[in-house]
Amino acid sequence: MQAAEKDDEGAAKLSPEEVRDNAVAFLFAGSETTATSTCWTLFHLTHNPEAYKKLQAEVDAAMAGDTVADVEELERMPYLAQCFKESMRLSHPGFATSLKTLKVETQLGNHKVPAGVNVQVDTGLVHMNPRVYPEPAKYNPERWDVSEGGEEGKTGLNSWAYLPLGAGTRHCIGKNFAYQEAHIMLAMIVKRYDWTLAEGQPAEVLQEFKPPLLPPAGGVRFAFASR
Ligand code: HEM
Repeated sequence: MQAAEKDDEGAAKLSPEEVRDNAVAFLFAGSETTATSTCWTLFHLTHNPEAYKKLQAEVDAAMAGDTVADVEELERMPYLAQCFKESMRLSHPGFATSLKTLKVETQLGNHKVPAGVNVQVDTGLVHMNPRVYPEPAKYNPERWDVSEGGEEGKTGLNSWAYLPLGAGTRHCIGKNFAYQEAHIMLAMIVKRYDWTLAEGQPAEVLQEFKPPLLPPAGGVRFAFASR
């Protein structure tokens, strides 16, 4: 976000072009990303009936109605947040962090990389590192249960070990908004519907590289039934 001008009282003021540019950035950075991560979460839940059942029980107990969940209701759904987080670990919506320029010569593993070089961190490699995530291929929302000493508690997981929303000074500016948006959507879907993969939908779905996103290749078709 940039504010080039100041108003009469010296407060920062955005020009009309800056307002337009920021609106466009928010629209594009904030819609497909959230849609993709929510879709992957529905997908992982169809493959993990135990997690799905546990989530449904939590949402049923936490939500009074089936419209937009409020903040207090969301706070009563920690497992929903864990399911979403685990889905974004296995199926991160973006393929990597944005480019970061090295300010100083840096040793990266066996390579000495000169200052000025642009580097990107591969999110998938980090998320599948067994030293950080035991049994990395397993969908395991319990690994994020901090109350039970989950990964964050046990390993003191640093912010560069979980990268769906990037890390560092240029990490996703919409992070908290995105979490809230996705949690509300998922809670409403869980409360209102049962879903399975639609007839004919292959159970295996690859991530498709559509820069900068990794949506399900060919999309995923679900069959929803009102509860
Ligand atoms: C689940 C949803 C989202 C995902 C997975 C996601 C992912 C990312 C990633 C990976 C980056 C690059 C971070 C880095 O290089 O370290 C980023 C940057 C950004 N995101 Fe998101 N994002 C999401 C939702 C949103 C939303 C809802 C908004 C706005 C309403 C948003 C706005 C932005 C903006 C403006 C940047 C650029 C920040 C900068 O360069 O300083 N994102 N996002």
